[in-house]
Amino acid sequence: MNILSNTDLDSFTVTKAYARWAPVYDLVFGAVFERGRQAAVAAAGRIGGRILEVGVGTGISLPLYSSNCRLCGVDISAPMLRKAQERVADLNLANVEGLWVMDAEHLSFPDKSFDVVVAQYVITTVPNPEATLDEFARVLKPGGEIVLVSRIGAEAGLRRSLEHLLQPAARKLGWRTEFSFGRYARWAAQSPDMHLIERRAMPPFGHFNLIRFGKVSAESRLDRSEAVRAAG
Ligand SMILES: C[S@@+](CC[C@H](N)C(=O)[O-])C[C@H]1O[C@@H](n2cnc3c(N)ncnc32)[C@H](O)[C@@H]1O
Repeated sequence: MNILSNTDLDSFTVTKAYARWAPVYDLVFGAVFERGRQAAVAAAGRIGGRILEVGVGTGISLPLYSSNCRLCGVDISAPMLRKAQERVADLNLANVEGLWVMDAEHLSFPDKSFDVVVAQYVITTVPNPEATLDEFARVLKPGGEIVLVSRIGAEAGLRRSLEHLLQPAARKLGWRTEFSFGRYARWAAQSPDMHLIERRAMPPFGHFNLIRFGKVSAESRLDRSEAVRAAG
């Protein structure tokens, strides 16, 4: 039996929280997260092609992408996604292929479906961050990138203690305050095809990071095995 502590996140709590956030989300989190969204969209745009945005929410970042990118969006919250659907219709965003209610941890897309997987302010809101990152890597094509904007918890000190104290309240709002960069680093170290490309501080207060992971392309996998053969 999986017994959750009062600091763990579960899908029911998260879904309930974002149903409450949906009507006011853009007002509360629109401007404050704008720089991070712009940076993530710019990074995704450098790869281009078919892009999956996970935790697309109200679709606030969809108009920022180039019209050349083909966009798919998923979110676990139907009320948040309804806002995204309205935005796509109002702005006539013809490059949006589709928006689906879907759990980030169980994406119903085939392997290697996307050139880029983007998730802004999402990883600290899912119950199983590492399993979710595995799903992102699965649906990503070799040579593609995972582009995240994520809150990064402190490793030690007063901020770490505060984040620990605030975690039970944050859970009810639908996110984690405690999430060190070490979790991302360990996930990448255990994922043979994935490597860290970039980590950059983002506002507000530099407590957020833009993080890019690359998936090894078929050519570089060949290069690697040839190098190993030559060395052996
Ligand atoms: C903090 S909001 C971020 C929304 C948007 N990406 C932005 O830039 O503002 C987190 C979003 O992730 C969604 N989410 C949380 N857990 C999820 C899951 N397991 N699968 C899919 N979406 C999830 C929430 O419903 C919410 O829309």
